[in-house]
Amino acid sequence: MGSQNFVKILAIETSCDETAIALVETSGSLRSPRFRILKNIVSSQVKIHQPFGGVVPSLAKREHLKNLPLVLKKVLDARYYVQDTDLVAVTVGPGLEPALWTGINFAKDLAKQYKKPLLGVNHLEGHLYSFLLSRQKKTVVSSSQFSISKIYPAIVLIVSGGHTILIHQKNLTTWRKIGETRDDAAGEAYDKVARMLNLPYPGGPELEKLALSGNSSAMEFPRPMIHQKNYDFSFSGLKTAVLYYLRDHPKARKKDVAASFQQAIIDVLTQKTIRAANEYKVHSVILAGGVASNKALRKRLRAECRKNKLNSLSAERKYQTDNAAMITVAAYISHLRDRKSRIIAQANLNL
Ligand code: KG4
Ligand code: ZN
Repeated sequence: MGSQNFVKILAIETSCDETAIALVETSGSLRSPRFRILKNIVSSQVKIHQPFGGVVPSLAKREHLKNLPLVLKKVLDARYYVQDTDLVAVTVGPGLEPALWTGINFAKDLAKQYKKPLLGVNHLEGHLYSFLLSRQKKTVVSSSQFSISKIYPAIVLIVSGGHTILIHQKNLTTWRKIGETRDDAAGEAYDKVARMLNLPYPGGPELEKLALSGNSSAMEFPRPMIHQKNYDFSFSGLKTAVLYYLRDHPKARKKDVAASFQQAIIDVLTQKTIRAANEYKVHSVILAGGVASNKALRKRLRAECRKNKLNSLSAERKYQTDNAAMITVAAYISHLRDRKSRIIAQANLNL
């Protein structure tokens, strides 16, 4: 495929409320995969869903249908053509089923029209591998800069709107889930507490902003499961504690509530991740998912990693929140492994 083993991948991501398409030139082996991002376009539907305080699946579907051709047009300017790509990739799950289908059908049509192979990608693998895009600037990452063998074994914390998962990853292609949330995901807790504080959807980034000027030790909110030996999480009790606090203290300073809530969630995420890293004796901690763009979480985890002599890896913000560049990375790794996936929407797909 392609010349000099370059594989140009066009990826489509519509699992939630971002319509995203990326075109990435991939190369290298599983020991040193390389990615050169040619185009990475994300069209957000936030404004559409904002009045409802959350994503409305039927609206997401309608918007994806409308936006997909427009986003593709932006990706394919005078320099790039679908004919020149080697592979079309599409997110098949997990996500909102009607939203997933719009991307899948669009990708199927493209692949058929241009006679290109089509590969289904797990959205969570996209998050898992997103950090591989982090050190690349405009040029190809060389193997000397980025040695996969020095990164693994690793503990990966995926924190998004739908998931909170801890993974023990032995190497690029072998991993085991060691824990996950039993109720709300971390991003979901952020969004729900933000709503209690009358912040607009999606609340995570808004709550982080508000917390900046607040006192994080003003209230002592619970740190659920922090001392339990397992690597599972639970955030619904923390959310309820904030709800009751606000009910009983209607005059509480919102910024203090935001900062104290954030402190509780970061304490739990950091402590359990570092404990897992030490127990499994890994080299690195990888942070991924939408909540990974939270500066306070990144800073704290990085500091704890330094103390514990662990590498700390994470993509920059634009590759943390949903995007299609991360889907090309997971697609390329699947392609190198000759993996196939069913091209149907799998709303509950897991890692
Ligand atoms: O990975 P993502 O874009 O979509 C899913 O796959 O879920 O994650 C979205 C989630 C939302 O809950 C959003 O509020 C949260 O990530 N989020 C943040 C921040 N940026 C996004 N949460 C806390 N702080 C942030 N800066
Ligand atoms: Zn995501």
